Amino acid sequence: MVTQSTTQVKSGLQYLAKATGKPLSPNQHLLPLTAKVNDQDHLEIGGCDITTLVARFGSPLYVLDEFTLRTTCQQYRDAFKTYYPGESQVIYASKAWSCLGVCAIIASEGLGFDVVSGGELYTTIQAGVKGDLIYLHGNNKSLSELELAIDYDCTIIVDNWLELEMLREMGKTRDKIISIMLRLTPGIECHTHEYIRTGHLDSKFGFDPNEIDRVFTFVSETPNLKCIGLHAHIGSQIFERQPHQDLGEVLVDWLVKSENYGLEIKQINIGGGLGICYTEQDDPPSIDEWVQATCNAVIKACEGHNIPFPKLLAEPGRSLVGSACVTAYTVGSSKIVPDIRTYISVDGGMSDNPRPITYQSVYRTLIANRMSAPLTQTVTVAGKHCESGDIVIKEALLPDTETGDILVVMATGAYNYSMASNYNRLPRPAAILVNEGEANLILQRETYQDLIRQDLLPYRLLRH
Ligand code: LLP
Repeated sequence: MVTQSTTQVKSGLQYLAKATGKPLSPNQHLLPLTAKVNDQDHLEIGGCDITTLVARFGSPLYVLDEFTLRTTCQQYRDAFKTYYPGESQVIYASKAWSCLGVCAIIASEGLGFDVVSGGELYTTIQAGVKGDLIYLHGNNKSLSELELAIDYDCTIIVDNWLELEMLREMGKTRDKIISIMLRLTPGIECHTHEYIRTGHLDSKFGFDPNEIDRVFTFVSETPNLKCIGLHAHIGSQIFERQPHQDLGEVLVDWLVKSENYGLEIKQINIGGGLGICYTEQDDPPSIDEWVQATCNAVIKACEGHNIPFPKLLAEPGRSLVGSACVTAYTVGSSKIVPDIRTYISVDGGMSDNPRPITYQSVYRTLIANRMSAPLTQTVTVAGKHCESGDIVIKEALLPDTETGDILVVMATGAYNYSMASNYNRLPRPAAILVNEGEANLILQRETYQDLIRQDLLPYRLLRH
């Protein structure tokens, strides 16, 4: 029997939520909240042995913990209820992981949905979400995406002039009042990777605040457009509290300004962005702390202007799903380059997790079938793609590792499956939802037939 006291030794056990002694805000933990070690010294999540899951469902395998996912939803919801005196609504930024299973769980927790394409919108609708809880984003929405959103009575977060004009025409032809929010670029800098920063002025998203008078005038003169709210998003994987506090103030200032145009805007959406732990060095605020800080800033700004509290919306993605999932791989070949490094290769890589090659993201790993084995070596965990840059983890601290071991990469729930590809024609992995010992497939593993499903051979290329 492995006990918690073994956590003194540096081993995979150190990553268990209970070992850190921190409050149970999932975004502050590397492993899902239900992670523990069983009698066989194996990692167990949601009451399921990861090694057994891989034997049953194959690898790579995304393993999503329902308890952790529901806990994040509840923590966000409860924190807004506690700290904000007005109405509030938490919206899931489904770009982090859009599939029926994930959407259905989040919908059942009462959250709304941010979608950024017809595909995400379709998935959300198919998961049973009603239009009044769906918000369509995007800096270049197509006519058919707008049509789908309008047909379902979704709210459209308008990003630019072309879209405003398209919507005006669509409202007129359909003789319909379209519910919109306006996205503005607040000019707030934050410390995160430049590809995932969006609030600075030089961003492709949203109206420049210098245009705010013209935009408000346009909307006030367009009877088919009902502007219900203002939106801004400053970036992702943010650990500071100040940027969202500043954003709260800016949004309230804009709201006050809108009154001069006769607009009755009653909602502000502060976007997403709260960071999660990918390594033990990462130090994001808890969900509760982040919500409290953000609400306080909005409350203060409203009191300063002596206006009623608008409905406050937030749309987290990463911090809702990121920490609820791990990816399990099987270890294959290894290569020792004397005096330089040891490569250990796994059966996935940049196709199931493109974040390391795209953003130089750092992850932590463990061997799920030998949790208490002491960590003895620093190795490079390589993916199986034909690309030298396909490195899952450059410096991974692991126990002695053998072919066939189950290597788990932590905190892979956000922007992994949703950014996965078929590079090198690798079928995308399966995803399993685990809860209290039950394991359900929520995404089937792709097959080779799936890979050629859209391929066509023109007649003249057929061999006769
Ligand atoms: N709202 C808007 C308008 C967004 O653009 C985003 C993320 C979110 C909300 C959710 O932000 P979160 O809470 O997840 O930080 N692929 C990148 C992340 C891109 C984020 C894009 N927008 C990554 O893997 O780090």
